[in-house]
Amino acid sequence: MDTLKNVRKSWESFAEENPHWAVLTARDSGETDAFYESGIHDVESVLKEGETQQIEINKGAALDFGCGVGRLTFPLCAHFEKVVAADISTKMIELARAHEKCPTNASFYNVKDSKLSGLDRNSFDFVLSLIVLQHLPTKHAKSYIKAFMRVSRVNGLIVFQIPTARKKIETGKSVFWADKPLTWDNPSFGKLCYRYVFRTIMWPRRRLRLPILSNELRYRLDCLWRKVTGKRIMLMNFLRIDQIKKIAKKNGCEIVAIKKDDRTGEGYTSNLFFIRKFQESK
Ligand SMILES: C[S@@+](CC[C@H](N)C(=O)[O-])C[C@H]1O[C@@H](n2cnc3c(N)ncnc32)[C@H](O)[C@@H]1O
Repeated sequence: MDTLKNVRKSWESFAEENPHWAVLTARDSGETDAFYESGIHDVESVLKEGETQQIEINKGAALDFGCGVGRLTFPLCAHFEKVVAADISTKMIELARAHEKCPTNASFYNVKDSKLSGLDRNSFDFVLSLIVLQHLPTKHAKSYIKAFMRVSRVNGLIVFQIPTARKKIETGKSVFWADKPLTWDNPSFGKLCYRYVFRTIMWPRRRLRLPILSNELRYRLDCLWRKVTGKRIMLMNFLRIDQIKKIAKKNGCEIVAIKKDDRTGEGYTSNLFFIRKFQESK
């Protein structure tokens, strides 16, 4: 199955139906002043963090990967000479391009593959991608990160957000042990053995029941079903920090900073990676 084709189909459908909700699902749907203002805030805080890390950013060319309706593209245009806004959805690009806020130094690129093969090597001083990689199958997320490193110039800065772990599902384990400690009333040896055996028998049931009913598992099953039936899907995936470190090392890059962020809500630990390219990648 061509998973990228499925990703494209899904995002075209989200863009047709409710693009602003698709970009910021946590907010109310529809375009509001706050929607584009949040983009200004995001770009400025990322650039400020770059300064805090004492990373000098050349203000030539920037890439906004997964640009959506231009929430980050437009403010980036105020900081860089030119900005290439890339997206897999032609509808998202159409909406961003037609927007009254769209500056003249923005150009658009419709993503066709996960190698960004239409973009030249060493062509960007700054690459930004927020709330995009998390929605991709992990093999594609890895491939795009590698592509960011290829298209970045030496000394360029790459900033992307991605969840790095799924938070533990509440299994009730702590409740199980904390509620009634085995020794709470100093029971007789026989009673203690009985409780131990009983709790050991109950343990797998308690461990298994909650995850089975959890949103996470239902969500995974729903994803699987949607993949099989070809229905649209907004995935939530993560890459571990060590996987990202490995990609950086192989591609002439170093991670300068990893900052926790709250873009994925409660279910995941999300991080913002600041990566500098220090030598030409292979
Ligand atoms: C949640 S929106 C975020 C938009 C923008 N980064 C922002 O923060 O406002 C995700 C965007 O990524 C785009 N996208 C999803 N998969 C993509 C892919 N494989 N390549 C490029 N863009 C992709 C979607 O079309 C959508 O516009």
